[in-house]
Amino acid sequence: MSRTAVISIILTAGLIGCAPAPEVKKERPKVTRTSFGNTPEGTEVSLYTLKNSNGIEVGIINYGGIVVSLKTPDKTGHFADIVLGFGSLDGYLKEHPYFGALIGRYGNRIGGARFTLGGKEYKLAVNNGPNSLHGGVKGFDKKTWDAVVDNNSNSLILTYTSADMEEGYPGTLETEVKYTLTEDNELRIDYKATTDKETVVNLTNHSYFNLAGQGNGDILKHSIQIMSEKTTPVDATLIPTGELKDVAGTPFDFTAPHAIGERIDDAKDEQIKFGGGYDHNFAVDGQMGTLRPAARVTEPTTGRVLEVQTTEPGIQFYTGNFLDGTFPGKGGKVYKKRYGFCLETQHYPDSPNKPQFPTTALKPGGTYASTTIYRFPAPAR
Ligand code: BGC
Repeated sequence: MSRTAVISIILTAGLIGCAPAPEVKKERPKVTRTSFGNTPEGTEVSLYTLKNSNGIEVGIINYGGIVVSLKTPDKTGHFADIVLGFGSLDGYLKEHPYFGALIGRYGNRIGGARFTLGGKEYKLAVNNGPNSLHGGVKGFDKKTWDAVVDNNSNSLILTYTSADMEEGYPGTLETEVKYTLTEDNELRIDYKATTDKETVVNLTNHSYFNLAGQGNGDILKHSIQIMSEKTTPVDATLIPTGELKDVAGTPFDFTAPHAIGERIDDAKDEQIKFGGGYDHNFAVDGQMGTLRPAARVTEPTTGRVLEVQTTEPGIQFYTGNFLDGTFPGKGGKVYKKRYGFCLETQHYPDSPNKPQFPTTALKPGGTYASTTIYRFPAPAR
């Protein structure tokens, strides 16, 4: 053996000798499945629980792809459920304001419940004033999805085939939504869809958050920053006028953080009046199609933080203005006005009737693809 080889063996042995003890990686728990009851048609609904090594836990059912619980720590390490919803399937089977659900085929409103595509008019269910909201009478939030677990990526993959002309929309839509809980404390949602005829698509998730814990009061003291310089102002039925309006000098300027409650009842602002608070689409700064920051929310007493990133052009900030305490929530909680807020990443409302907005049309051969991340960084102390 050469001298250099001997020296190198001695050096390596020395290094091993004083190397720090290898870090013991905590094993990430596997995704679990339990029964969440049966639909009236007798189909079993499953509850899938995804956990990460930091103790974050999300419960998702394959009925409506609904996020039924989401547990994250506060600044003292205490975990609480921070999304609104019901304790059992019954609540989700009745009419409710889309707690935690996947929304499709078209999230938010289509004006006059109609649109034309390829020279043909399509009529939709009128279920919100004169308009169509969240995909119609029986949207994707009320469908039972097929589910597959991928333990390698800590994901739940949901698929649903929406038939041609279901709820008035043309084309068979093959839809896939993949929920992933990462070790970086992100709930990542990847949406995909293909069609066999030209159609319109706008998928989102309708979780209501309360970072103080679900049912623990209103969200008015939460502070929010929205990375947006423009909104799509609406008419009295919440259909965009088609303009993009600067947020500067209005209660919609969240380019720096503000408490949600600070300007929510600004009687002088017509847009606030129309929404009964915030119920508006913000155009997210930066290039649509690239994952970029859209919003950041902090809750002062618990220190919890929520960061939203999306590839979508817009985000609907809805402050639960229509909640009125009638829903029996989880753990005996009731959800009164503004007890939760939604940050629904999306294409702009009524895009099928607004050629100036980014298109929501999907053609055969094309793939609709969109990603949103809800991240829960370490709580502020
Ligand atoms: C809409 C609100 C609606 C809520 C629940 C939100 O996406 O913008 O106007 O009340 O969903 O249906």
